Amino acid sequence: MVAEVSLAALHTEEVRRDPYPFYAELHRHGPVCRVAPGDRYGYVVHGYEASAAVLRDSATFRVMDSTLLGAKPTWEGNRAHAVFMNSVFFTNAPRHTRMRKMFNQAFTPRRINALEPAIDRMTADLLDRLAAQAAGGAKVDFMSEFAFPLPANVLGELLGVPEADRAWYRPRALALGAILELGGATADNVAAADTAAEEITAFFADLAAQRRQDPRDDMITALVQALESDGTPLSEEELLANLIVVFNAGFVTTTHLLGNGLTMLLERPDELARLRADLSLAPRYVEEILRYEVPTHFSVRWVAQDTEVAGVPIPGGCWVLVLLAAANRDPAQFDRPDVFDPDRTETATLSFGAGAHYCLGAALARLEGQRGLAMLLERFGDIRLAAPPGTPRQLMLRGHEQLWLTLA
Ligand code: HEM
Repeated sequence: MVAEVSLAALHTEEVRRDPYPFYAELHRHGPVCRVAPGDRYGYVVHGYEASAAVLRDSATFRVMDSTLLGAKPTWEGNRAHAVFMNSVFFTNAPRHTRMRKMFNQAFTPRRINALEPAIDRMTADLLDRLAAQAAGGAKVDFMSEFAFPLPANVLGELLGVPEADRAWYRPRALALGAILELGGATADNVAAADTAAEEITAFFADLAAQRRQDPRDDMITALVQALESDGTPLSEEELLANLIVVFNAGFVTTTHLLGNGLTMLLERPDELARLRADLSLAPRYVEEILRYEVPTHFSVRWVAQDTEVAGVPIPGGCWVLVLLAAANRDPAQFDRPDVFDPDRTETATLSFGAGAHYCLGAALARLEGQRGLAMLLERFGDIRLAAPPGTPRQLMLRGHEQLWLTLA
């Protein structure tokens, strides 16, 4: 018998501050639960194996796309949705497969590996700036001075977005991302996201036009030139939509990996000291940070036909909420799941999803997390919180808005 639960708690202040006890409660009811009537979601999937099975079966469990939305979102009606629905995030096979293949071709391991020296150089520049700002014991905001600009600069370099435009981009990216939060598509948020979508689309249209005229060794050029096997390029709306979502997905997430990671280390002085003493442990620490406090707590899927997950029958025609952050704390998969333990041997998490929509930027995010945190610790022997870090409330893009530090 499958248990029935209410997800109302996920909208309360208490659970938003600390969702993990709620996730632990869900685990006590099994890996999949039916959601009490009246909710948008028919089922919640939170067990590790069950969540992985759902994400891997993209024929049965589909992402929201324009056919599921009922009507094709129009540029005039809802610009933000029109952008999302032309991107890899919100398309299913065969359209998704076609776009993803072209993206994989442009987002090659060669291009990611080649970024390592640039990541180190950009990190070193930001650390110089931090050192100057923190001189004499002044407080600095780690989020705006390091955790945001590092991934924005790396993505900017990869895609070819000029440095001068990156600060302009940040509030617009945040406005677009806000409607993806659980319950975040309020009228005000949608209006702000529509305006941001319009401005960002115009920005990338301009950049793409420049690269057609004057090709360079960057990803915008690679995508502008990428051709399908039948010789067709990505359509202009697909090209622009994907540039937008990659840029967005690529830095807000990594910003929080850096912010959450540093906070967790500062709250655990023994772990901080151990990592400081041996920076070659950075990959292990980053994996455990991603398991323990992942910035993306959930994914959503539509059930295309009657099916079964972990022995629970799920009827076609409903939405399921896949709680990735809960799966990362599943006691059936991880020994003492609520303990931060970089030495754990079971390290495969669902932080980057699984299956067809597996994160395009996982390798890049890991590299930035490892280099960013290691170089920060190398540079500053004394890092302290200058104010309590505040408690995140988001489930999507969970992290700190500000993180005030003193550095020496
Ligand atoms: C800590 C950092 C990151 C986390 C936690 C993260 C998490 C995720 C997750 C969970 C998904 C799957 C969503 C789903 O199945 O519904 C995803 C997809 C995606 N991510 Fe990431 N991501 C991170 C960094 C990045 C970076 C750096 C980039 C780009 C450079 C990126 C680009 C994408 C794209 C384009 C997709 C959609 C892929 C598709 O639908 O085919 N992400 N990410």
